[in-house]
Order: sequence, then C-alpha cells, then structure tokens
Amino acid sequence: MKVILFGATGMVGQGVLRECLLDAGVESVLAVGRRPGGQQHAKLREILHDDFFDFAAIESQLAGYDACFFCLGVSSLGMDEARYRRLTYDITMAAATMLAKLNPQMVFIYVTGQGTDSTERGRLMWARVKGKTENDLLKLPFKAAYMFRPAGIKPLHGIRSMTAWVQTIYVVAAPLLSLLNRVAPNYMTTTEQVGRAMIRVAQDGYPKPILESEDINRL
Ligand SMILES: NC(=O)c1ccc[n+]([C@@H]2O[C@H](COP(=O)([O-])OP(=O)(O)OC[C@H]3O[C@@H](n4cnc5c(N)ncnc54)[C@H](OP(=O)(O)O)[C@@H]3O)[C@@H](O)[C@H]2O)c1
Repeated sequence: MKVILFGATGMVGQGVLRECLLDAGVESVLAVGRRPGGQQHAKLREILHDDFFDFAAIESQLAGYDACFFCLGVSSLGMDEARYRRLTYDITMAAATMLAKLNPQMVFIYVTGQGTDSTERGRLMWARVKGKTENDLLKLPFKAAYMFRPAGIKPLHGIRSMTAWVQTIYVVAAPLLSLLNRVAPNYMTTTEQVGRAMIRVAQDGYPKPILESEDINRL
C-alpha cells in the first residue's frame, strides 16, 4: 500500500507515520507538509509545500496512491468560525478534491474528533465545521472514505503535540489520563492505536464510515 500522509509533524501524524514505517504492508509514505519532519527512512519521502489551499504545483506528485491519512488539523481555541473553517474545511477539501481526482481507487481517512456534529447545525462551532468537512469528504468519489473520531489520544513512543496547550495537558494530566484509560478504555486511545487502525481500515475497510474511539481500539 502506498500512503500519502498529511500532518506528519503533528502528534497524531507522527504516530501514524511511525506505524506506517513499521508495517510491512505499507510500501511507501509520502508526507506532504510545510516543514521537514526530520526523519530519514527508506520508505519515506517528503514534499514541502507552502500553499495548503492550492495543490496544483505538486499535482503530478500526488497520483498513484492507495490511501491518504489526513492528520492535519488545528485547535479552534481562540479562533472565530471563518478562520477555523478556512484552516479546517478549506485545507482538507482542497487536498481531498485533488486526491480524489487523481486517485479514484484511494481510501481517504480523516481525523476529526469525538462530538463532531454531522447535522452541521449544533451549538459548538468546531463540531459544526468538522461535521461539514466530514459530510463533504464522504461525497467525494474515493473508493472509500472513513472519519476517525477519537476523544483523548495518549501520545506514545516519545511523540509530542505541536499544540502547546495540548502537550501541557498530556504532561500535567498524565496520571489522570492513565486512570481514565483504565476506567473508561473506550474514551481514550493512543497514537499507536490510531495508526494501526488507519492501516487496517485502509487495507480491509470497515462496516461504517464514522469510527469512534471504541471502533479504533477494537481494530
Ligand atoms: N491531540 C488529540 O488528543 C486529538 C484528539 C482528537 C482529535 N484530534 C484531531 O487530530 C488532528 C491532529 O491533531 P494533533 O494533536 O496531531 O495536532 P498537532 O500536533 O497540532 O499537529 C497539527 C498538524 O497539522 C499541521 N498543520 C496545521 N495547520 C496547518 C496549515 N495551515 N498548513 C499546513 N499544515 C498545517 C501541522 O503542521 P506544522 O508542524 O507545520 O505546524 C501538524 O503537522 C486535529 O484535527 C485534531 O482536532 C486530536
């Protein structure tokens, strides 16, 4: 399986990249980012790209892939809806529309979050925007698209969040998260479980397009 990975420098993306590089079923990974991830590996190639609203300049390099793991995302904290929508919906749809055109046999997997609002009309701004993004991704002509909605994700293997407040929470609340993991295992997942589940779903499919933590942990 040939994989394109977005967000490889982030917490979730680093975890997914690790599992892809370890998995014999993944032949190669193309990481598309705006800065180098700093890893060297025989299976890994990086494209550095400036404009995540327009991928025309690298279009010729995005064909011939079996799966896209889209782990790029931002926190909505302190953002108004227009800006969050621009960085969430517009970036994701610009990449996905291009990939669907070039790779009709591709499986596209998007990381959203627990509580995403499929009605697009709820009270929470981030949940509406993610809901709209999910809904429109599911309409694109991919072989299949899956929406991963993890709740808490514990970073493993030395992985850190690029979002300072998220990293602080994971460090300060580590004992609480470990406890939560034991008492509510379906609420928490790990970067390793997310990466493993993405590879499994891309290879074998899944009975439903939206996967919650429980589904991710089961895979
Ligand atoms: N962390 C969690 O516990 C958690 C839980 C549930 C869902 N999620 C979701 O998972 C996704 C990833 O979260 P994360 O924790 O991995 O975030 P993160 O550590 O902050 O990483 C974000 C990634 O997205 C890239 N990115 C952000 N804005 C970009 C832009 N304008 N242009 C290009 N690249 C951009 C970053 O690239 P740079 O390195 O260049 O900034 C980085 O690779 C998000 O959608 C988040 O909502 C996370």
